[in-house]
Amino acid sequence: MKKTLLLISLVASLFAIDGGEVFQKNCTACHIGMISQADFMKQIKTVQAPPMVEISNRLRNTIQINAKNENEEDIHRFAVISYIKEYLKHPSFNYYMCNDSAISRFDVMPAQDHLSEEELQAVAEWIYDYFEDKEFK
Ligand code: HEC
Repeated sequence: MKKTLLLISLVASLFAIDGGEVFQKNCTACHIGMISQADFMKQIKTVQAPPMVEISNRLRNTIQINAKNENEEDIHRFAVISYIKEYLKHPSFNYYMCNDSAISRFDVMPAQDHLSEEELQAVAEWIYDYFEDKEFK
């Protein structure tokens, strides 16, 4: 029994999807990951989309949870990740959270619905976790 469990978790980790890789492959044609505001402004004429560090911070600050219990952080992470996954499947100017000047510069993002549910989950988790201690400044 123990051996079977070990084997299952080994196989699961072999197939675990790396959210950072999903980002590199599918998102960097438009989104820069980590960049300073000064460097971003230097490229503003040629960039295709807001940088992911800004998006991550903005979504984390915009989506607020009022759970007032020890699960508050987990609920917040779950809510932000769920929003990102939903936005990737159904981008829309009806509920975007990017800042308005970004929206007036760029068109709405094309849906990323070629990604599997597992890839969407992995990249959304990565966006939340990777930039957690990074600021766009
Ligand atoms: C063809 C260019 C393009 C690609 C590829 C792209 N995006 Fe975007 N993305 C944009 C643009 C433009 C915006 C800003 C407009 C908007 O919010 O729809 C945006 C906005 C976003 C937002 C913010 C949503 C909000 O609330 O405003 C998230 C999150 C995001 N992208 C994630 C991703 C991820 C993850 C990938 C890769 C799987 C990806 N994008 C691939 C162009 C792109």
